[in-house]
Amino acid sequence: MKKYVVEGGNPLFGEVHISGAKNAAVAIIPAALMVNGVCRIENIPRISDVSLLLSILQDLGAGVRSINSNTVEIDCTHVRNAKVPYDSARRCRASYYLIGSLLGRFGMADVALPGGCDFGGTRPIDQHLKGFKALGAAVEVQSGFINAYAIQGSRLTGANIFLDKVSVGATINIMLAAALADGLTVVENVAKEPHIVDVANFLNSMGADIKGAGTDVIKIRGVKELHGGTYSIIPDQIEAGTYMAAVAACGGQIKVCNIIPKHMDCITAKLLEMGVEVEEIDDSLLVRRIGPLIKTNIKTMPYPGFPTDMQPQVAAVLCLAQGTSIITESVFSSRFRYTDEFKRMGAQIQVDGNLAIIEGVHHLTGAQIQACDLRAGAAMIIAALAARGTSEITGVQYIERGYEDVIEKFRKLGGTISAVEIPEENEALSVG
Ligand code: EPZ
Repeated sequence: MKKYVVEGGNPLFGEVHISGAKNAAVAIIPAALMVNGVCRIENIPRISDVSLLLSILQDLGAGVRSINSNTVEIDCTHVRNAKVPYDSARRCRASYYLIGSLLGRFGMADVALPGGCDFGGTRPIDQHLKGFKALGAAVEVQSGFINAYAIQGSRLTGANIFLDKVSVGATINIMLAAALADGLTVVENVAKEPHIVDVANFLNSMGADIKGAGTDVIKIRGVKELHGGTYSIIPDQIEAGTYMAAVAACGGQIKVCNIIPKHMDCITAKLLEMGVEVEEIDDSLLVRRIGPLIKTNIKTMPYPGFPTDMQPQVAAVLCLAQGTSIITESVFSSRFRYTDEFKRMGAQIQVDGNLAIIEGVHHLTGAQIQACDLRAGAAMIIAALAARGTSEITGVQYIERGYEDVIEKFRKLGGTISAVEIPEENEALSVG
């Protein structure tokens, strides 16, 4: 086990290069299962969720070859096993994409129910299962496994599906299952996140016929099979937003490089309201905060609204803004568990259901704090870097699920942060 030790109170200066998008990578790797050939995937982030999914594919019989630190070749030509054991699937929420890809390729899937971040509240997958059933699959959940199979032969059949709720996971999972189905599938009320477009582009580069990703309606015309090819994953919108929030909280000036500025619009707009300066330069953003932070109100929404995955990070910034800010979490039933940790640092936050009311304070002070999920963990780093004094962050395994080289990247920006090994038994003690 390890903890991060952070000396806060200094502004950030320098350049940070954004890695490939985690939420695209964790869908594209399962999608490679559908390809009869070699997929060369570039700009893949070196994060633990990616490593786990690659090892699951190997357990299923796929060939996985690392070409360099951010490029991998996956060959699923000879995969025939469609069962994913509990001890693998439970460690990564994105393992649910294996259902859609195995069902799409083989007409059957037997995958343990997913695990992943626990913000509190439930994270159902009823819309995923609704889509599979509409495509002609029988689906049953028993003994912690989702067992699904095509009722007619070994292929699914295209269908019209209207999602009851805008869901990233369901949108992608249905796209996967329908890519090799017989006929046309039309999915409405879909999510429009950049990573959904990326998964559709990946599948199309392998021979699929998917139109409309990024809009409210996606049309998937099933094809006989997918061939191999090469694909490069888009930059991570949330990783980029995390570093933008960090310089907003700490002050200073950083250049966030290798991004798609359009994807950042929803985050940039809110930072501008808070008194942060943002200048677009080609595929980078120059982000500067010199003066005081100004309070603002934020409501998380599906893309192109303000992303829920940026909610904890921007809360860390608002803890230091002048005035009272209100955050409304409208995507998940609750995602404010992390605020107790900020209170240990002197933050003034009241949580009432899906509302957080934040009274800005002059400064935060370092403390022992614990990450409870991936984005909360990133927010802990931001708060610790902005705080006066020393902080110790535990639960860092959550952070390393989704942030490549997070220590090195913050150090290059002038952050004083290091990873310290702690004995397993102390892990419980240090989190109190
Ligand atoms: C994906 O989770 C992301 N995870 C999450 O990012 C992200 O917060 C979320 O999308 C929203 O953008 C991955 O991509 C691996 P949803 P997902 O289905 O697919 C409800 C991170 O930090 N819902 O869009 O699980 C659900 O409970 C992670 O990178 C149903 O009711 O999110 C939630 O309230 C955290 N039934 C809302 O919809 C369903 O069948 C949105 O969930 C599915 C979802």
